[in-house]
Amino acid sequence: MRHSTAKSIEAVESVREYLAGQERKSLLRFLTCGSVDDGKSTLIGRLLSDTKQIFEDQLATLERDSKKHGTTGEDVDFALLVDGLEAEREQGITIDVAYRFFATPKREFIVADTPGHEQYTRNMATGASTADLAIVLVDARQGVLAQTRRHSIIASLLGIRHIVLAINKIDLVDFDQAVFDRIVADYAGFAKDLGFASIAPIPMSARYGDNVARRSERIGWYSGPTLVDHLETVVVDDIAVEGPFRFPVQYVNRPNLDFRGFAGTIASGSVSQGDEVVVAKSGKGSRIKRIVAQGGDLASAVAGQAVTLVLADEVEISRGNMLVAPNARPHVADQFAANLVWFNEHALLPGRSYILRTETDQASATVTELKCRINVNNFAREAAKSLEMNEVGICNISVQSPIAFDSFADNRATGAFILIDRISNATVGAGMILHPLRRADNIHWQSLDVDKKERALAKNQRPAVFWFTGLSGSGKSTIANLLEKKLHASGRHTYILDGDNVRHGLNRDLGFTDEDRVENIRRVAEVAKLMADAGLIVIVSFISPFRAERRMARDLLPKGEFVEVFVDTPFEECAKRDPKGLYAQAMAGKLKNFTGVDSPYEAPEAPEIHLETLGKSPEMMVELLDEWLIERDRMEQQYEEGGGI
Ligand code: ADX
Repeated sequence: MRHSTAKSIEAVESVREYLAGQERKSLLRFLTCGSVDDGKSTLIGRLLSDTKQIFEDQLATLERDSKKHGTTGEDVDFALLVDGLEAEREQGITIDVAYRFFATPKREFIVADTPGHEQYTRNMATGASTADLAIVLVDARQGVLAQTRRHSIIASLLGIRHIVLAINKIDLVDFDQAVFDRIVADYAGFAKDLGFASIAPIPMSARYGDNVARRSERIGWYSGPTLVDHLETVVVDDIAVEGPFRFPVQYVNRPNLDFRGFAGTIASGSVSQGDEVVVAKSGKGSRIKRIVAQGGDLASAVAGQAVTLVLADEVEISRGNMLVAPNARPHVADQFAANLVWFNEHALLPGRSYILRTETDQASATVTELKCRINVNNFAREAAKSLEMNEVGICNISVQSPIAFDSFADNRATGAFILIDRISNATVGAGMILHPLRRADNIHWQSLDVDKKERALAKNQRPAVFWFTGLSGSGKSTIANLLEKKLHASGRHTYILDGDNVRHGLNRDLGFTDEDRVENIRRVAEVAKLMADAGLIVIVSFISPFRAERRMARDLLPKGEFVEVFVDTPFEECAKRDPKGLYAQAMAGKLKNFTGVDSPYEAPEAPEIHLETLGKSPEMMVELLDEWLIERDRMEQQYEEGGGI
């Protein structure tokens, strides 16, 4: 039979398309939850080996090592293989999750292998964010443990809908069906509220390969699939491809004046040439002119593909925005409720400002309310003031400027975010958005006719916030008082916000835990901002022990208006002065959370004014402040006369 060239090209194309389709359909991403003790490494090693992914030479080394160090006698110790890789990985601090690839004739697999240890939750969250399925490993001798429940709850929060309950080491309980049944019932009872679409319990022995890739005759009472059978056939619906079109813009590609495209990866849905799209935040619409991909233009593209979109009109879209379907838009809001998983050894502090990062967007964010902590043993909601490492909670979050998002249940890519600590730059938590808060829709900024500038002009002064920080007894209040007297005498309009005084009223409900101090400073920073808006010169005198909150206060004000004054008196001197007798009490253990004793003080790194008080009088300190003010005015005058720089 003869084919025309055109026909065979067509055939090749359709085979290619078919394969491309197969490729997408046949890839299963999963992760394993459990510790080395449960046999996690052994199971991954067994999976790779029994699906022939270990190269012969690696296998030979492994056999040798197993004889030397292994714990399995003459058998191959698969844990050595995976643990060896893990040790290698631990030397490079950046890679926390290893993705291993293997394939069977029916499907391809990517398994996210997450090292255990104390950072387990963080690594698991990283691995789970793209996984379709989780293998929850249980040691048959131990049954469902607290960590089994924790991993399952995190998997559920991270949007995993399919679970394999791998009941391992079944050989060590004499292949007893009663043990298996009990664990299955136990787990089903616990997991019923976690929203899993499927839970497949499989009895196995990873060490001997029973029911991993090979059906075990030793577990005759079990008639279900082996692990590999199940992984090959489990149906995981790809919500991403079916969802509404979402295209988070990674960057604007403008190599020359004739071309302007928006580059990114389609997070969900599909797009075709000629489709109408809108910019999520502004609502501005346009039409898809071209879909540029590696190797040429496409007529259409689907979730998972990296493309550059060219629009028919010139519309403003910056990084962090999304192109979306006009008839199914995401939420755009600055307040929302979310599930939060905390990873960091420093607890989450509501009121503290973190950096929130979505797929492409970034904004300052605070947890305005921690509604509850979720008990990872029984899913109960418990009252909590903060989240410690590995804890999970439900909270309200407020971002400084609106972001575009979907609820996580609708879209795992556009409904997720991470929180980053401003000072250490560490990723401290991962969040899954539940819904926007309606209250945000109904509060609008009221514009007023008399503004800050006019209020300040009427007082003939420039508003400022002098932020005094230092240990209790360092002399903050004394110096602040003298400074105010001096400013007042020269006709300035001032106000002092003093820690002890404000704690008698506005902040009467707050104590001295880290959470309460964060809230104390958040409130006083907001009040200082309002007072500066009223045109006043504000002097804040609070210990304000944390850098993060002083930074937050600084960021609330226009540049130059926040003047950090470090009243630097050594601890020993403060303790000696002890004007209120508090140091004596704290050092005797009678007063808890006392700054400098059992609560930290983080000294400023670059304050505008550094007052070293030792051996100097408060009057001398005020002189220094005065000189600083005169110098600043002189510099400004010079700048103005010079017409700016
Ligand atoms: S801050 O840390 O939250 O900024 P703030 O300045 O409001 O503290 O209050 C500090 C004052 O509260 C101290 O000067 C002291 O008089 C009093 N105080 C009572 N208990 C403590 C404590 N545990 N730690 C520090 N100050 C305390």
